Amino acid sequence: MNAEAGRRVQVDLGGRAYEVHIGTRLIDQAGELLAPHLPRRRTVVVTDRHVADHHGERLAAALEAGGIAVDMVVLPPGEQTKSFAGLEDLIARLLVLKLDRGDRIVAFGGGVVGDLAGFAAAIYKRGIDFIQVPTTLLAQVDSSVGGKTAIDTAAGKNLVGAFHQPCFVLADLDVLATLPERELRAGYGEVLKYGLLGDAAFFGWLEANGGAVLAGEAGPLAHAVARCVEMKAQIVAEDERETGRRALLNLGHTFAHALESETGFGEALLHGEAVAAGCALAFRFSAELGVCPPEAAARAEAAIAGAGLPTRLRALAGAPFDASRLVDHMAQDKKAEAGGLVFVLARGIGEAFIAKGVDRAALLRFLAAEGARLGPAG
Ligand code: GLY
Repeated sequence: MNAEAGRRVQVDLGGRAYEVHIGTRLIDQAGELLAPHLPRRRTVVVTDRHVADHHGERLAAALEAGGIAVDMVVLPPGEQTKSFAGLEDLIARLLVLKLDRGDRIVAFGGGVVGDLAGFAAAIYKRGIDFIQVPTTLLAQVDSSVGGKTAIDTAAGKNLVGAFHQPCFVLADLDVLATLPERELRAGYGEVLKYGLLGDAAFFGWLEANGGAVLAGEAGPLAHAVARCVEMKAQIVAEDERETGRRALLNLGHTFAHALESETGFGEALLHGEAVAAGCALAFRFSAELGVCPPEAAARAEAAIAGAGLPTRLRALAGAPFDASRLVDHMAQDKKAEAGGLVFVLARGIGEAFIAKGVDRAALLRFLAAEGARLGPAG
């Protein structure tokens, strides 16, 4: 790939189709690249303090050089901003800036900023368009594409939100250089997820090139991000509202959400780390159920562990977990149907499938074998 020109992936949603532009030095060209999507020549950039400190001035200068007037709304960093209170504050600030329905906002940050600003855009004056400029690996390969927007509530993560597609996504790989190493690694958990769920050749490539991706080497990093975005774009185009195939993108997420619920959705276990552990668990559970060869589960685990990501329940902060509590969280997952457990399992590397009506007793036995405690209810 020509790093300067970058790569463009189309998310094919008819009249709401949009492009994801992936490459290097894109923030510096934001004036030119975003101008076609900002016909009013003004925008509000919604970001957080960390991203603003590292890259805010550069983005504002690039937009202004392209003749686009910019207001910045800088939010406190962290998951707690993705709340009703955070949403109210953001909407109030957009109202003060007198944005009207023809204006567009730019979500400039990781998953928290993208989810919150996207949801604000979905409901502000009954909906305005927005642009995603994701700044974490996790947001570039997953959350900025596909239009899932949400906030958290006391009852759980992402339980209030809307499908609202961006009108453009600009993923500048250079900004990943300022990410804390742990966060980059966590984002790589989602990269591995794509290979594991639907592309064995990509997974093989990651086995050979994962080190270079994590070291931030431009070519491998660009290939990895672009392949994930291509896969996501194709799945979203087929099933925008997750009535079927899109649920495959949740490989590892049922385990992950249960573990995050137990560890407080914070520093103890980052989302990408939970997804990595969840993918290893989903493969081992698939092997345990006899639907996946144990060698494939071992291969998945080796790649995850080789990237310095967790694979074992008993090694996680917060262990030992209570098996029944984990299963209760899983039963509350958005994918659970009428109390039945729904999992994304795998028949092999790159062969994920949706399994409905997973047996609670088999799951409890599996979790106990993985080191979770079986209480009286289990
Ligand atoms: N992160 C899963 C999805 O967007 O569907």
